[in-house]
Amino acid sequence: MKGLILAGGKGTRLRPITFSMAKQLVPVANKPVVEYGLEAMAAAGIREFGVITGDTGPEVEAALGDGSRWGVSITYIPQDAPRGLAHAVQTALPFLGESDFLMYLGDNLIKSSLQRLVDEFQAHRPAATILLTPVSNPSDFGVAEMEDGRVTRLEEKPAEPRSNLALVGVYLFDRRVHEVIQRLKPSRRGEYEITDAIQGLIDEGHTVRSHIVDGWWKDTGTVEAMLEANRLILEDLVGRLDGEVDERSSLHGRVVLGAGSRVLNSVVRGPVVIGAGCHIEDSYVGPFTAIDDGSRVVRTELEYSIVMRDCVLEGLPHRLEGSLLGRGVSATASTARPRTLQLVMGDNSSAVIP
Ligand code: TTP
Repeated sequence: MKGLILAGGKGTRLRPITFSMAKQLVPVANKPVVEYGLEAMAAAGIREFGVITGDTGPEVEAALGDGSRWGVSITYIPQDAPRGLAHAVQTALPFLGESDFLMYLGDNLIKSSLQRLVDEFQAHRPAATILLTPVSNPSDFGVAEMEDGRVTRLEEKPAEPRSNLALVGVYLFDRRVHEVIQRLKPSRRGEYEITDAIQGLIDEGHTVRSHIVDGWWKDTGTVEAMLEANRLILEDLVGRLDGEVDERSSLHGRVVLGAGSRVLNSVVRGPVVIGAGCHIEDSYVGPFTAIDDGSRVVRTELEYSIVMRDCVLEGLPHRLEGSLLGRGVSATASTARPRTLQLVMGDNSSAVIP
């Protein structure tokens, strides 16, 4: 079985972060989100990967390389434009050939193992297997309608959903899906929908199996979801101190501190991950915070946040919470008069100031 990771797309919901980086590379607990999926697929025995890329292709390629870090091979497959998940599959046809494949949306995180799914797919040989999970806002997702345990109808982002079962970003297919995709027409929103392709398989009488996910699942396409994914991953953090903590500091709960990092006169309440070469001084770092390599936090309080690498936070008068900071962000307090707010923010940035 081959693996197909979708790492193209527009990423409009995660702007401004996605103006300058691929959303699949946003770090969750200091690790690019796409790596979690790749690792889960490799753990399920997949060795040959295709990665669909868009405008951010070079950055994705630089991050994942040739796959040897995971003992797999990666073929990069540029998609001319983000014209839908089924279009991504069509673009990957020369790579996929006649193989079965597991398709994974590169910005999705799923906790359960994929091994059982792969084994069941190979034992039962359906045309497709989909994963479902109950959600409170089905109109935002592809939704499956079930009858007697069978999937009977699929609809992408329905205005009036007929069930609360959303499609999770993991799918297994055999080669029959390609014939259906050849005949697909774009949907009302102008995309070639994978839900329409799966519906086509059902309409032609092929078997589509479904599974309700047993662990959690997150589509990290929005800031809120990204922070929540960070929380969920940090819930399972195993503490490890490779940096230096001075005697005036206290660490509580599970904390990871990278090599060359220093915590001085500060309180860190886990679960928290701090990367390598960070400097934390006179600060409070609260639960569910990830601070990436080379960042500096001085006279600042923060929690439930993602701080990417090489940020500087200094003397902030209020606790930072629920924040997502891109690489090299600087937020410092001014001591000079007049005490004004000075903002240099890219398009679509947001700040809530008390
Ligand atoms: P989405 O999150 O549905 O689409 P998007 O990336 O365009 O985001 P937004 O709605 O915020 O603009 O895509 C799911 C995953 O699939 C994501 O990792 C991007 C990827 N993708 C492709 O690789 N090609 C495509 O044509 C599309 C639509 C998505």
